[in-house]
Amino acid sequence: MSKVTVVGAGNVGATVANVLAHKDLVNEVVLLDIKGDLARGKALDSWQQAPIDYYSTSLIGTEDYEKTANSDIVVITAGIPRKPGMSRDDLISTNAKIVSTVTESIMKYSSNPIIIVVSNPLDVMTYAAYKVSELDSSRVFGMAGILDTARYRAFLATELNVSPKDIQAVLMGGHGDTMVPLPRYTTVSGIPVLEMIDEAKLDAIVERTKKGGGELVKLMGTSAWYAPGAAAAQMVESILRDENRIFPCCARLTGQYGLNDMYLGVPVKLGKSGITQLLELQLNDDEMRLLHNSAEHVREVMETFEGMAIV
Ligand code: LAC
Repeated sequence: MSKVTVVGAGNVGATVANVLAHKDLVNEVVLLDIKGDLARGKALDSWQQAPIDYYSTSLIGTEDYEKTANSDIVVITAGIPRKPGMSRDDLISTNAKIVSTVTESIMKYSSNPIIIVVSNPLDVMTYAAYKVSELDSSRVFGMAGILDTARYRAFLATELNVSPKDIQAVLMGGHGDTMVPLPRYTTVSGIPVLEMIDEAKLDAIVERTKKGGGELVKLMGTSAWYAPGAAAAQMVESILRDENRIFPCCARLTGQYGLNDMYLGVPVKLGKSGITQLLELQLNDDEMRLLHNSAEHVREVMETFEGMAIV
């Protein structure tokens, strides 16, 4: 018996709910949005797909937080998306208030949920949800690394003409243009990627990955949803099935990698109690420098958030 709430019935939230329903691992998905009819409509549309695609997860759309009571997991996608020319950080003044209010409302009806944040600027919005919820940090984390790694893996699959299934990779840092894809930890069916691609091509893929979200905003006039939604649903799956899969997620650091009291993308294990282990890789000097540069950038956005004095 499990219940998942998805807050925000925009493109990303609706995709999370729909992908989750297809996995058929949750009894009930509550899709909540301040635009209640939008949430009701998308939930009903997804439910009407159930007889075609064979799932029994029921989907409920609402604007009423009472319906989220006793959720095991809450995925927060609420907030405005980027428009062309905007960075994720430009969203902070609007989204910090939205994410804080949403977290407060969720905590009124669920005492110990696991919260997965998707709203941008991701690292700081996850920090906001952690602060407002007062939950243990093993239960509050953000989705970015799976998406960013998926983009990196997809670009590599195209370049190498191999199946995306056979590319494994780790990527760390903030969810922004300073993110740190890690070629040294990238393999193609166990073969180090550097044995299969020349460095200039790999560098170009790393650069494209870092701006992968922006590429889509330019193409569509708004931010992406299929891969972001599927990534959040994959986190939910690892938790509910207690799989302990290792994913790069936005997690609270308490000294690891020389960084303290901030949220940043690092590899973690996800199981039924949330983050069951935070992995500390043996980064070399260059990788560590890039990670710290990314952390510095996230800290600047954190300062803007602290300046808003919401929490
Ligand atoms: C992106 C948004 C979800 O990277 O941040 O597409």
